[in-house]
Amino acid sequence: MKTSLAKMHNSISWAIFTGLAALFLFQGVPVRSGDATFPKAMDNVTVRQGESATLRCTVDNRVTRVAWLNRSTILYAGNDKWCLDPRVVLLTNTQTQYSIEIQNVDVYDEGPYTCSVQTDNHPKTSRVHLIVQVPPKITEISSDVSINEGSNISLTCIATGRPEPAVTWRHISPKAVGFVSEDEYLEITGITREQAGDYECSASNDVAAPVVRRVKVTVNYPPFISDAKGTGVPVGQKGTLQCGASAVPAAQFQWFKDDKRLIEDQKGMKVENRPFFSTLTFFNVSEHDYGNYTCVASNKLGHTNASIMLFEINEPTSSTLFQEEKTTAMTPWKGPGAVSEVNNGTSRRAGCIWLLPLLVLQLLLKF
Ligand SMILES: *[C@@H]1O[C@H](CO)[C@@H](O)[C@H](O)[C@H]1NC(C)=O
Ligand SMILES: *[C@@H]1O[C@H](CO)[C@@H](O)[C@H](O)[C@H]1NC(C)=O
Ligand SMILES: *[C@@H]1O[C@H](CO)[C@@H](O)[C@H](O)[C@H]1NC(C)=O
Ligand SMILES: *[C@@H]1O[C@H](CO)[C@@H](O)[C@H](O)[C@H]1NC(C)=O
Ligand SMILES: *[C@@H]1O[C@H](CO)[C@@H](O)[C@H](O)[C@H]1NC(C)=O
Ligand SMILES: *[C@@H]1O[C@H](CO)[C@@H](O)[C@H](O)[C@H]1NC(C)=O
Ligand SMILES: *[C@@H]1O[C@H](CO)[C@@H](O)[C@H](O)[C@H]1NC(C)=O
Repeated sequence: MKTSLAKMHNSISWAIFTGLAALFLFQGVPVRSGDATFPKAMDNVTVRQGESATLRCTVDNRVTRVAWLNRSTILYAGNDKWCLDPRVVLLTNTQTQYSIEIQNVDVYDEGPYTCSVQTDNHPKTSRVHLIVQVPPKITEISSDVSINEGSNISLTCIATGRPEPAVTWRHISPKAVGFVSEDEYLEITGITREQAGDYECSASNDVAAPVVRRVKVTVNYPPFISDAKGTGVPVGQKGTLQCGASAVPAAQFQWFKDDKRLIEDQKGMKVENRPFFSTLTFFNVSEHDYGNYTCVASNKLGHTNASIMLFEINEPTSSTLFQEEKTTAMTPWKGPGAVSEVNNGTSRRAGCIWLLPLLVLQLLLKF
């Protein structure tokens, strides 16, 4: 009975001492520690959130008492568990090692843990830092946006993780490679149509592979007619006028002749509309079909128009194989030519490339 009481008393005073030691420790007052290498705790312990951390303390047979503390709270003293946290378990308590395990580690477990031992009535402590890592996670990102050319936009991408992830924005486009922003915010003032497309936010730390999310930026702009060329066709043949326009949202097309709107699928002709071009086809061109046609391209941001001529040429003398190329190529010198407000298109230049060899061919055919 007496020894039991003494033992109990002893045990309590040790606990009080350990608590005090820890208290001093965290107030920066050094606890008496004999040789600096003992007790030997491990280096800092780094684990991912959700994993288990093992805290090891190397001891020897002179050690009479051992304890692990979380800050100033005793987790284990010898074989006795002092905390209520079920995630904390004793792993080994032998002559050489005293270790505990913290299961399902979370970020709030991060911090200093102390191994406290008593050797020949001298208390010594050793500290280890538990570092908890968390893979990056994007918690907030802007939604897809649709804006008008010239507007300002601001995209946001918020990410969490430990260590704090680095956040970058990148424009996914065949032309623009590289980063457009090195932080959570991407600001674009006076956006251009070339800046439309997908923007990718990437959050990375050393813990796991970077996480990426994309935001689609749609830049609206009024129609711009890029292709409007006239066509020369002989009477009785099939003739097609084409009008191409780029626009976001895609343009809607209308055809006029002398201020009169052409109704689609009027007798003998057909209008075909695609998102970026429209064609007007005459199945059997007659004299009264020739003239000045106007293609109007419009979307919610505006409209533009171009004049396109359907003009008469002589019956082709060469094979019908040449028909298409010839009518295009003849445009500049036989017909009045395509009169267009946007006449600088590539189609025009393509026509000129054809012009020279065909001119030679024509001359040759005449002799
Ligand atoms: C352990 O972690 C603490 C806190 O992060 C740091 O101050 C200390 O330098 C680290 N020690 C080692 C050995 O990495
Ligand atoms: C360690 O102490 C911190 C702060 O009091 C607490 O939030 C955490 O749950 C403790 N962890 C363990 C494993 O005892
Ligand atoms: C866009 O940003 C510029 C520069 O910050 C500012 O001068 C302009 O007024 C903004 N435009 C709009 C439409 O907010
Ligand atoms: C084209 O129209 C003319 C006059 O209306 C007609 O004589 C001719 O047969 C038509 N040709 C075709 C291929 O329909
Ligand atoms: C065709 O019409 C447009 C607009 O109505 C006009 O500007 C242009 O001069 C006309 N072209 C010809 C050859 O009549
Ligand atoms: C074509 O555009 C001109 C100038 O913008 C305008 O005066 C004309 O009315 C337009 N024509 C048509 C058919 O919309
Ligand atoms: C056509 O080209 C000329 C000179 O290269 C330029 O001044 C003009 O603005 C262009 N027109 C259009 C409609 O692109």
